[in-house]
Amino acid sequence: MSQKIKKIINKKNVSKIVSLTAYSKNIAKILDKYCDIILVGDSMANVLYGQENTHKISLTTIINHTISVKKGIKKSLLVVDMPKGTYSSKNKARKNARLVMRLTKCDAIKIESNKKNYKIIKDLTKNKIPVMGHIGYTPQFNKKFSVQGDTEKKSKKLLEEALLIEKAGAFSIVLECLTANTSKLITSNLKIPTIGIGSSSNCDGQILVTDDMLGLSGFYPKFVKKYTFLNRIIEKAVKKYTKEVKKMSFPSKKNFLNGTRAK
Ligand code: KIV
Repeated sequence: MSQKIKKIINKKNVSKIVSLTAYSKNIAKILDKYCDIILVGDSMANVLYGQENTHKISLTTIINHTISVKKGIKKSLLVVDMPKGTYSSKNKARKNARLVMRLTKCDAIKIESNKKNYKIIKDLTKNKIPVMGHIGYTPQFNKKFSVQGDTEKKSKKLLEEALLIEKAGAFSIVLECLTANTSKLITSNLKIPTIGIGSSSNCDGQILVTDDMLGLSGFYPKFVKKYTFLNRIIEKAVKKYTKEVKKMSFPSKKNFLNGTRAK
């Protein structure tokens, strides 16, 4: 296990793990100063590519975005989401995960749970591929965006699933849209850290989709706190630019290139 991954595990019960998603170098460069983990999420399918779900994003697209993100990272753990269909058998998962790791130089991959694929995780970790699990609402397998673990029986089932993933060798696990009680139950029973999204503060860390928390994506479920409204800031700048181009105050003499210097 790498020192970087050990550092993440050692944060359990010591300090909260800060994670966000990134799809490009410029955003990753900013996040890297503050985040422990940066995830290249398949949420890019909805957020960047305007698709209705995450099901059709290709491995090549994820790899290309990760190559960009990697250029902005100096210290954070870089985790890459494996797209739907790329880990449906042990051989396929191993081949694709190795390809992702080789081409992107990421630190780990993330796999959504369909309740049975802890066996795939076991095979990957046995083959020295670090894996982050993901349970609860898993967009690749659940149709309806809904609260998970809201009865005692469902809560117990989720705990069993999380324990199987831990036993399979995952180094951490995302808990998506779990009730506060279920998150508490799982976090207190697992040795590996839990990273919550919409799963209360009863987790070892938190993750959000960066475009959501910056007020850029237009997707604002209850659990997303908007830390700013980047859409308004960008619009203001674009509006000013438009006005200046039209009245020819931009470019001004300051921006002319007169055979001197371009920068
Ligand atoms: O794809 C993604 O961005 C994710 C996070 C929401 C955890 O899986």
